[in-house]
Amino acid sequence: MTISRLPNRVDQVRTHDVVVVGSGVAGLTVALETPGLEVAVLTPARLGEGGSSPMAQGGVAAAVGPGDSPASHAADTLAAADGHADPTRVRTLTEEGPARVAALLAIGARFDRDRRGGLALGREAAHSHPRILHANGDATGAEIVRALRAKVLAADHVRGYEETTAQEIVVSQGRAVGVLALDGRGAFVLHLARAVALATGGIGQLYRYTTNPRGNVGDGLAMAARIGARLEDLEFVQFHPTALAVGADPMPLLTEALRGAGARLLDEVGRPLMRGRHPAGDLAPRDVVARALWHRLAGGGGVRLDARSVDRDLETAFPTAVRHCRAHGFDLSREPVPVTPAAHYHMGGIAVDGDGRTTVPGLWACGEVSAVGVHGANRLASNSLLDGLVFGARVGRDLVRATPEAPPIKVDVASRRLQFTARLSSDEELAVLARVRGIMWDRVGLVRDADGLHEARAALTEVAAGLPAGLSPSRRFVDVARLITDAALARRVSRGAHFRRDGLPDGQVRETGRR
Ligand code: FAD
Ligand code: SIN
Repeated sequence: MTISRLPNRVDQVRTHDVVVVGSGVAGLTVALETPGLEVAVLTPARLGEGGSSPMAQGGVAAAVGPGDSPASHAADTLAAADGHADPTRVRTLTEEGPARVAALLAIGARFDRDRRGGLALGREAAHSHPRILHANGDATGAEIVRALRAKVLAADHVRGYEETTAQEIVVSQGRAVGVLALDGRGAFVLHLARAVALATGGIGQLYRYTTNPRGNVGDGLAMAARIGARLEDLEFVQFHPTALAVGADPMPLLTEALRGAGARLLDEVGRPLMRGRHPAGDLAPRDVVARALWHRLAGGGGVRLDARSVDRDLETAFPTAVRHCRAHGFDLSREPVPVTPAAHYHMGGIAVDGDGRTTVPGLWACGEVSAVGVHGANRLASNSLLDGLVFGARVGRDLVRATPEAPPIKVDVASRRLQFTARLSSDEELAVLARVRGIMWDRVGLVRDADGLHEARAALTEVAAGLPAGLSPSRRFVDVARLITDAALARRVSRGAHFRRDGLPDGQVRETGRR
């Protein structure tokens, strides 16, 4: 094992009103909604790059269409969540959604339009109305991030720190007072602030097969857990049914909007996979469809997505999907293409209230790293971008209210010793991550049981025991994998995306009420 010793001192100290960690849709929204404060955004790549947001395809859901209403959107969200979402927070999400769409339009986001110039609205699984706004066909996230980033770059109150990765949240007298970060030159910079907002995204890369980009390994969760913030619902990991089965990392996503436009899932002999499995067929909730694929693939069959029946020009409506297929030698307009489920989204996260406040004073969280209670056990398609926009804005507004009242920061920087005593080489980090990803996919994946979860627990404990002492990236992701496994062990019954084959039968006896 190669161990590089790291200095145990802080190289530089900077002071701000607020430190935002992450520059996806949630982090950028927080930054924009904090005028009057001096805000630093820490991000490992360039501002707006990295993370899932720029990869988002299908769109953003909001009740803006004729005949639609926030109440209908809320009802669909609650139904998909399998009884585990918080109705009050869902109401906030769906009622404030249209205003966030208006705010995006106001800053120049260009959503696709219909022939009469109105917003073109698509349909996705488990939505009872067409309510999915999209941009450039299936490249919605990139357009939203483009618009937010341009506005953030023009905002005087925000300063971006690129190539900067947060390592730990600094706490003083029980309050979050900043973030210790490693910058691109290898310097440890202490960003002190009266408030910290985590917007570090999801955990998909903890699984062997995922649609998530590199870096989505749950850093925010690990940092928050370390300072005692309450985490919630960690067992609920969503697997998207239709990643292109080509062994790429991340796996190319074939948007659910394809099925919304008429594409069908077929088994290995060309029979409709979802026939007789759910009244909504191919547009059944994501967990139901993903499990149907899993069972077929685990039984030695194959599943293909057939987009030949989509009555729109695929090149125009789904350019990202067409490009992904072409890159791997498939012609989506002429042939069914092989698909597989892949880890896609984390419903669980840091427990927050409706303004994104965590259980640690001075610490806020929003976006995928948080669990605000709107997704329950299974997120409704296209509700995640909306979550980042709605609750990111609420965090920003709350920070404007709360930050002036925050106590002055008291940290004895000179005596602060870093706990980063050692770290692995990047090759070794990758090897540890590969092992964790295998364990999580095989034992803590779409279908779980107590034996497998205990085996995963033991294997992850062994991995942890082999890590050098002190904090390190690998320590963070192994911690998160263990927390997810423990949560999956603790919930003995199936619910939404958490399916226990040794628990009560799926679809028969279910838990009721949010716990
Ligand atoms: P992210 O966008 O993931 O951003 C996290 C940020 O935190 C990044 O900048 C990252 O680099 C940074 N970060 C991470 N760790 C650190 C650290 N230690 N220090 C500093 N910064 C850090 N949802 C929808 O609603 N509609 C869709 O159509 C849709 N399509 C999707 C397609 C794909 C392929 C994927 C992967 C996801 C899709 N999702 C979709 C889900 C959605 O994109 C995400 O849930 C959402 O964008 C998360 O936003 P976020 O701001 O919370 O996190
Ligand atoms: C997709 O486009 O299928 C992904 C949508 C989502 O994750 O909400």
